[in-house]
Amino acid sequence: MTSPDTHPPAASAARYPAGSAAFPHRDLTGLAGLAPWELLYLLDEAEQWVELNRQPHKRSDRLAGLTIINAFFENSTRTLLSFEIAGKRLGADVVNMAVAQSSVKKGETLIDTAMTLNAMHADAMVIRHQSSGAVRLIADKVDCPVLNAGDGQHEHPTQGLLDALTIRTALRERGLGDDFGGLTVTICGDILHSRVARSNIHCLTTLGASVRVCAPPALMPAGIELLKVTPFRDFDAALDGADVVMMLRLQQERMEGQFIPSPREYRHLYGLTLDRLAKAKGEALVMHPGPMNRGVEIDSNVADLAGRSLITRQVEMGVAIRMACLDVLTRKTRGLEGWA
Ligand code: NCD
Repeated sequence: MTSPDTHPPAASAARYPAGSAAFPHRDLTGLAGLAPWELLYLLDEAEQWVELNRQPHKRSDRLAGLTIINAFFENSTRTLLSFEIAGKRLGADVVNMAVAQSSVKKGETLIDTAMTLNAMHADAMVIRHQSSGAVRLIADKVDCPVLNAGDGQHEHPTQGLLDALTIRTALRERGLGDDFGGLTVTICGDILHSRVARSNIHCLTTLGASVRVCAPPALMPAGIELLKVTPFRDFDAALDGADVVMMLRLQQERMEGQFIPSPREYRHLYGLTLDRLAKAKGEALVMHPGPMNRGVEIDSNVADLAGRSLITRQVEMGVAIRMACLDVLTRKTRGLEGWA
């Protein structure tokens, strides 16, 4: 393999428009509005880290001397761990702010917390927050790159990127090229409350895929067609001819009141069973961002279906994508090209 510490960046300039070989944004707060080449740039950059992460020695010193603060105001397992591992594998000093033991619990405002972190000269901040827009608010106040690790129902950009990288890797492995055009991706579940769905919609439609969204009416956002997706109420119809099926959890913590009759009825209409999966294309791929509720939105024998389920692959790609984002966004800090 090539040395992960080679400079300039692994991404080849030829794929990108002349004069724009460097990623032109300081923050990654969402995927909406990013150009196709910008998305591909981050996916391409992640490839070197996929390779490194598969080696016994998984360490680069690319971000040596930099401090990254992970501030998660909402629960997380895989995203927090993944960002922590990503920062450490790049040689940065990674600090996790324990929100439960922080002054947030004493009534400190979000902006005051952000200004405190800023005064500690972080070189990047990774923020998860329960309110849509909170990460942008922080990004506008601080001096370093800010990465959104999920804000309310708004966006979860690194999840959208890691899902796209997972799909592209699976296509390549199957000898199907790496073009998203012509792919049909069905996203089913609690679309209304899902930042994962939003980031995936922005990413996949920008890269040329056809995206279908499927949910019971109460969990389908009004005006979703404006995001260039086709909405479905009937899961079987949404699955017909799909290349990729992405299942989402019911986000009970964001629901006030009753959105579905019962988990049993929900599974009956919207759960991905083996029988249902047969309505999609023969070799259709199965994805889920986690955490899964087995037996509700997805059956265990589908989640664990060898050769078809990409769920653990998504987690693997997550570390590589986060390494790529941390590397790319801190290039300017390191005296390299960036934020054109
Ligand atoms: C998702 C999230 O937090 O938005 N999980 C994740 O980051 N992998 C989805 C969810 O919580 O259901």
